[in-house]
Amino acid sequence: MIYFDNGATSFIKPECVKKAVKNALNNYTGNAGRSSHEIAKMTALQVFDTREILKKFLSAKNYDVIFTKNCSEALNLAILGSAKRGGHIITTTLEHNSVLRTVKYLENNFDVEVTFIDPKSSAVSAKEIFQKFKPNTYMVIVNHISNVTGAMCDIYEIGQLKKIKNFLYLVDGAQSFGHTKIDLTKANVDFFTLAGHKGGLSITGVGALIVKNVSGLQPINYGGTGTDSINLIQPHNFSEDFEVGTLPIIPIISLKAGVEYLIKNFDEIQKKEESLDKMFIEGFKNLPKIITYFDEQNVHGVFSFNLNGFSSEVIADYLNNYGICVRSGLHCAPLVHKRLKTTKIGAVRISVNFFNTLDEVKEFFAVLISLIDNLK
Ligand code: ALA
Repeated sequence: MIYFDNGATSFIKPECVKKAVKNALNNYTGNAGRSSHEIAKMTALQVFDTREILKKFLSAKNYDVIFTKNCSEALNLAILGSAKRGGHIITTTLEHNSVLRTVKYLENNFDVEVTFIDPKSSAVSAKEIFQKFKPNTYMVIVNHISNVTGAMCDIYEIGQLKKIKNFLYLVDGAQSFGHTKIDLTKANVDFFTLAGHKGGLSITGVGALIVKNVSGLQPINYGGTGTDSINLIQPHNFSEDFEVGTLPIIPIISLKAGVEYLIKNFDEIQKKEESLDKMFIEGFKNLPKIITYFDEQNVHGVFSFNLNGFSSEVIADYLNNYGICVRSGLHCAPLVHKRLKTTKIGAVRISVNFFNTLDEVKEFFAVLISLIDNLK
């Protein structure tokens, strides 16, 4: 089997992640942040360590980490928890439905105006964002790497706008976390969201919102937080105050192991992913009947394409018959497909990580070329 669906979830987990899960099931089954006995305290320490390692990996010393169940929930918290009635949000057509549907909800129910920039090139620029500012703009939302085109925006350049404009800066890192070096402090980001199970190599069930200043954020879920329990009004002074109910402890501990692995191997990981990117860019060149949807100058681990005259599902099924796992359809990003004019047929998407091999890429192109030949 060749697994090219890492944008949906990473398939191979490093041994240290598997070990961490087993160890957690044996030793860290207390309720972190609630009870005060030894096992609960040991478990809470693991959760604390995971927050710290995430901050280290993302150069986010002065940030807080709020654990969520996935990246969508983290985006919901950042967007809904910062909502300003009558305000204006700038975002792009490259976003995932977890942003699009959430800002649409605000537009329809909270009198929030939303501008969707359709970038001139493959990723939005700071200039394009600057031009859309209004007096009531309070938030800018960009995805770091598109889950359809693989284009990366320059989060550092956009962060420079904070020197001249006052806004909350939210970066959706669903597809970038674990794949590219990220310095949240340098980029001046207020909110960064991630999915543990993708680039973070954890098991499913954990995401995170990395936040510069929790004090302006309102909770979107209410209940027990293990803090200020006498108070019937939910506190929101600390990251823990946003984590209602029992945490996904085993996924969090697996994320700690995943990030430790990333820190240890990151140079190698990046080199490997760059060589895979190069191979895909070369491989897709001059293939008859193939339409690609990536910018050769700006593509990172995600390669979408179609075979002229066929729906993406048909091609994905064909590849599946050869044991090649890809994702077809709209990838929950309808405005990107509108931009690519692929709303009806979707696109076949390859998304890689460093466990993929150059031989797998060769084999994929051999299968694709045989498919093109058979259809002549
Ligand atoms: N949003 C994930 C993807 O792009 C699930 O596949």
